[in-house]
Amino acid sequence: MTTLLHISTSPRGDASESLRIAGVFTEVYRETHPDAEVQQWDLWDGSLPSFATGAKAKMTVFAGAEPTGDEATAWAAAREVFERFDAADAVLFSVPMWNAGIPYVLKQFIDVISQPGWIFGVDPTTGYQHLLAGRDKRVAVIYTSAVWGPELGPEFGRNFQSTYFDDWLRWTGLTDISEVRYHPTLTGDQQLARLAAEEAARDLAKTF
Ligand SMILES: Cc1cc2nc3c(=O)[nH]c(=O)nc-3n(C[C@H](O)[C@H](O)[C@H](O)COP(=O)(O)O)c2cc1C
Repeated sequence: MTTLLHISTSPRGDASESLRIAGVFTEVYRETHPDAEVQQWDLWDGSLPSFATGAKAKMTVFAGAEPTGDEATAWAAAREVFERFDAADAVLFSVPMWNAGIPYVLKQFIDVISQPGWIFGVDPTTGYQHLLAGRDKRVAVIYTSAVWGPELGPEFGRNFQSTYFDDWLRWTGLTDISEVRYHPTLTGDQQLARLAAEEAARDLAKTF
């Protein structure tokens, strides 16, 4: 059975724009993919482990050794998070802009799962290897912001949200990436922008 995993990164529940657009996507996806399973993963639900000891374990692994004791426990917890992500056939991320970047739970998720041998390898002369390449895993990302917009100048902030997250996805080897955007800006027509984003989410979900 095909699984679509929706990873959500806004804590704002019913007030969330990114969750509402993701809801349109998953509703249409369910209708048009009756045999698929849709799973929800709210990164604010406490399921992400701290990576304080994990960071030590990571450097132990880099040095060619096996983590032991607390490091082994932290490494196993990180592996569980990676496997939950890796098991999905397709992934939908909903990502608001926070202070020009991404919400810190999403950065925590990235830091927990981006491990040597799982997501990347590195060769001293040729550089990184992208271990999720060739998996045929599609990714959709819903990006939202309220002040920044692609047509505005840097006085409205700069975009390190999609630039950073898209770069991370490609670095893992996941390159089949589609985007839905909602950037109404402070002077834009919010309702019109909402309808356009929902329409884009609907269209993408049908063919995803
Ligand atoms: C902590 C925080 C930081 C934010 N920083 C920015 C920002 O730097 N630029 C921007 O345009 N909007 C910013 N916003 C607004 C959100 O990106 C925007 O309202 C978005 O649609 C929220 O997504 P959500 O409704 O799914 O939570 C911020 C909102 C929050 C809560």
